[in-house]
Amino acid sequence: MTPMDMLLSRASTDRLKPPAPSEAQMAEILATAMRAPDHGKLRPWRYVIVKDAARLLLAERIVASMVRMDPDVPEFKKQKRLNRFSTIPMTLVLGMHLRPEHKIPLWEQEMTVAAGAMNILNALHALGFGAVWVSGDVVNDPVLAEELGFPAPHKLAGFLFIGTPEAPLPSPKRPDPAQFTAIWQGQPVNFPADGKTP
Ligand SMILES: Cc1cc2nc3c(=O)[nH]c(=O)nc-3n(C[C@H](O)[C@H](O)[C@H](O)COP(=O)(O)O)c2cc1C
Repeated sequence: MTPMDMLLSRASTDRLKPPAPSEAQMAEILATAMRAPDHGKLRPWRYVIVKDAARLLLAERIVASMVRMDPDVPEFKKQKRLNRFSTIPMTLVLGMHLRPEHKIPLWEQEMTVAAGAMNILNALHALGFGAVWVSGDVVNDPVLAEELGFPAPHKLAGFLFIGTPEAPLPSPKRPDPAQFTAIWQGQPVNFPADGKTP
């Protein structure tokens, strides 16, 4: 696979079976996150690996968080999330170590975390693993964030479910990039994606 083939064939999947990456593979995968653009070198990315027996502990904390966020959350949703988090081969918690007082704005710090996560998704794919980035209301729960090591002002950016794809990756039709691209020639641009011709 050429590097371009690799980038153009990545797709998310939540149909994941063991194995998850080994420790050595995870070290290599996480090294790609250190290549994310990072204004001010603040290194706001944080990664928490959850595997083996700790998966059930995380699943239980997730369910408790769901109830905190919505006391009326239906039982079946709790069960679904419990099963998911306790059986996925590996979860990588994406944390954001944020510095609101810093002159680099928070949004730039958060984007750096996202850029790192994208590198991780691509690296997983390059090594033949599958993954999906998920969030949900629970990522806004400060109690859960603290339980995972991110007391305010630090936050969660979501979870990467990681494993080996159970089936060939889905290949949903992707948008035409021309829809989202314009060439600036001195006037404000329009995009076909917004129903306007450039
Ligand atoms: C910050 C963030 C949070 C996301 N949260 C969820 C989620 O909770 N549930 C979900 O099904 N997809 C979620 N997604 C979307 C999936 O990760 C994925 O991008 C989507 O299924 C499309 O697949 P693709 O990556 O192959 O285009 C999230 C994506 C991002 C960037």
